Amino acid sequence: MNKRILLGISGSIAAYKTPELIRKLKEQHHEIRVVLTSCAKSFVTPLTLQAVSQNKVHEALIDAEAEAAMNHIDLARWPDCILIAPATAHLIAKLAHGFADDLLSTLCLATNTRLIIVPAMNQAMWSNKVTQDNVSKLKDRDYLFFGPGVGAQVCGEFGLGRMLEPQEIVDTLSKVFIKPYLKKQKILITAGPTQEYIDPVRYLSNHSSGKMGFALAQAAIESGAEVTLISGPVALTPPKKLKFISVKTAAEMLVAVQKEIGHQTIFISTAAVADYQSISPVLQKIKKSSAPFILQLKPTIDILATVSQMNLKPKPLLVGFAAETEYTLKFAEEKRRSKNIDLMVVNDVSLSDIGFDSDNNEVTVLSSDVPVHLAFASKQLIAQQLLQIMANCIHNRVKKNINASL
Ligand SMILES: Cc1cc2nc3c(=O)[nH]c(=O)nc-3n(C[C@H](O)[C@H](O)[C@H](O)COP(=O)(O)O)c2cc1C
Repeated sequence: MNKRILLGISGSIAAYKTPELIRKLKEQHHEIRVVLTSCAKSFVTPLTLQAVSQNKVHEALIDAEAEAAMNHIDLARWPDCILIAPATAHLIAKLAHGFADDLLSTLCLATNTRLIIVPAMNQAMWSNKVTQDNVSKLKDRDYLFFGPGVGAQVCGEFGLGRMLEPQEIVDTLSKVFIKPYLKKQKILITAGPTQEYIDPVRYLSNHSSGKMGFALAQAAIESGAEVTLISGPVALTPPKKLKFISVKTAAEMLVAVQKEIGHQTIFISTAAVADYQSISPVLQKIKKSSAPFILQLKPTIDILATVSQMNLKPKPLLVGFAAETEYTLKFAEEKRRSKNIDLMVVNDVSLSDIGFDSDNNEVTVLSSDVPVHLAFASKQLIAQQLLQIMANCIHNRVKKNINASL
């Protein structure tokens, strides 16, 4: 993403997590400069921060060794955003009242860039009316707040005040930088499993949680798109600002997709649609007996392949997901070609830390071009990266059409 981030660190115990935060920000190709309060130095060393950020760490307002005397002004002009993590109650109070008695508070006053606060403190300090008044003042001045989170605190108490985990900070930050690059584009997404009835109380299904499809829907909204999400039964709350359609069976999902597919720019099929359904589901509950029971199955209709064969004008960019347990890329590429779709996103669901029901994923995107690997990350981040790839495909398609018409 390549943003310039000035990381301000103040004197909270949570400062011990900042080397990890810097490492994760650098993995996203951000450039990091660190400014420490003098109290923060008791919790994390400048040497460690310099090593992980690969930049000089700034501490003093009046620094005789600084290349320019106006260090605070230069630093205030440099970043795309100032991220203060952890932010103490003390620092929040100083910023709310315009104090400028050290480098970090002074450059926050001198900057025109976006300021983001990641609070970290004891739950009583956070809920104290003084702190809450200070937070409200800063929110009114367009400071962004990430967290705090709820949980066990280092002091042994439990409540609201924990600093968000480094990965959560990185994921939330990436949303701040998203431009509405799919503004007004229509995106149709299917998610979750389907349930295929055997009788009124039993069904065939799979382990899909719907998390990847819901993460894509959220990322699509943040990219400015008009989103329709069709989901099988899942335990997730749909994001706001989209059209949500709840279905149970593959047949219901197909009908909903056929109804919505017209004029879509992108169709993303993340749903783990059951491959088979009972040949003739019975209307009454099948009685248990000691005799072997043979269930006859027939394939369900392939929704993505059906859409691919429809004569849609304009034809949406078609994106499929393949969950494989062996020969992952080979099988997925065969599927992509046979279904005639633009992008196939492949993950290996035999690995327990990614895929079905996991909060993380690691995928490879297959297309007619070279495969693109997206490294292990939260499903939210993978969703944002996937949407950017899709946006590029749309952009290239438009360019090709313009060139062809010249
Ligand atoms: C061990 C220890 C842990 C602390 N942790 C926090 C904390 O998590 N959040 C906070 O607001 N203050 C915390 N404090 C208090 C701050 O260090 C103190 O308010 C200090 O003045 C903050 O200075 P700064 O905001 O300039 O860095 C802690 C103090 C100690 C001794």
